[in-house]
Amino acid sequence: MINFIPAQVSHLDAVVALEQGTFPDDAISRRSFRRFIDAPSADFYVAVDADESVQGYTVLLYRNSTNLARLYALVLAPSRQGMGYGRKLLQWAEHLADERHCLFLRTEMATSNQRAEQLFRGEGFRLIELREAYYPPSSGQSTDALVMQKLLPRYELGDDSGVGATDEYVPMLTQTTEFTCGPASLLMAMDYFDRPSTDPAAEELEIWREATTIYMTSGHGGCGPHGLARAAYNRGLSARVEVNTDSPLFIESVRQVQKKDVMQRIQAADMNFLQAQGVPINVRDYTLELLKEDLANGALVMALISTYQFDGVRAPHWVLICAADDDFVYINDPDYDTLPWESSTQRQYLPIPIATFNKAFGYGGRKQKAAVVLQAIK
Ligand SMILES: CC(C)(COP(=O)(O)OP(=O)(O)OC[C@H]1O[C@@H](n2cnc3c(N)ncnc32)[C@H](O)[C@@H]1OP(=O)(O)O)[C@@H](O)C(=O)NCCC(=O)NCCS
Repeated sequence: MINFIPAQVSHLDAVVALEQGTFPDDAISRRSFRRFIDAPSADFYVAVDADESVQGYTVLLYRNSTNLARLYALVLAPSRQGMGYGRKLLQWAEHLADERHCLFLRTEMATSNQRAEQLFRGEGFRLIELREAYYPPSSGQSTDALVMQKLLPRYELGDDSGVGATDEYVPMLTQTTEFTCGPASLLMAMDYFDRPSTDPAAEELEIWREATTIYMTSGHGGCGPHGLARAAYNRGLSARVEVNTDSPLFIESVRQVQKKDVMQRIQAADMNFLQAQGVPINVRDYTLELLKEDLANGALVMALISTYQFDGVRAPHWVLICAADDDFVYINDPDYDTLPWESSTQRQYLPIPIATFNKAFGYGGRKQKAAVVLQAIK
């Protein structure tokens, strides 16, 4: 039976011996281990037997103001390897990083360390970089390193601490063009509310034709909230528009007067349609409290975010908000390359820290907020 306990000075001899035996060319120094014991920006735990003898250790390093934790060391005594303890120690390290509200856990290992690579891959880490000649030379040759990373927080279905879907996760769909984030978000909601499209690839473009503002920034127009609500209504969903202004949306994103005029006309037409069908258009500040209330009532919310917080580019982007808790808003992000996530599984229930979401929700100089609240028709 092995326990994980905070490292103390009395453990240092055993830790240093194990470290030097494991990494003779690149061992962490005793001084460093000593510092990690008290450092507020580190977690240093040892794995001990019932007789308190040290059988392994892990060190995590944190930097203020980043959401990134670095797994600096994870080592088991050779006599204890291959028995599942390495995986347990790694899971403990993830738990520690999670407790500090880190979004990512990152680590490096030699490209030749296949056992570690297997372990990390199995625990959901993804390769993000290959660093050449990262480790100092042993017998004349330096070694390359794999940098692997894992996104830590996950929304757990049925967990009381959050609001959102309880029985099944909202399925993920990746947009197929750069201008169809809105339609892809709507298609995910349709799937979740048991109205799946029989031909999503065709319908993605069809919804865009119905909901586009025709112009927006450069390139093709995106979709507006009124048009998307109209498309949702036409597909048998209950919809509600939430905007914080009754002046036309996004028209500052184009210069020409004719383009502005076309955008206003199409928005007016969508609004007339919605009013005629009794689809509510609320002009107010759609706050986090209102959003959480909607999620608690079983809704999904399409929200227009500015990607500036993520990639430094002020582009409007529709995402589907699926859940929220005290720390994060969880989104399904239909985009394949705007945000720095690597795989579509990472873009499903992607945790966005509340503070980041508050900055990202709203577009343009006037921070126009737009959302469409979707529900199954009861
Ligand atoms: C990497 C290390 C921590 C793994 O710990 P471990 O207790 O041996 O591993 P576990 O028994 O928990 O096995 C976890 C996974 O590792 C992989 N693994 C374990 N033994 C392996 C072996 N002999 N060959 C290849 N992969 C192996 C498997 O994927 C295994 O998962 P599975 O049991 O579902 O197949 C340990 O081997 C170690 O301390 N190595 C030296 C230090 C090091 O390289 N640290 C990581 C980089 S800092």
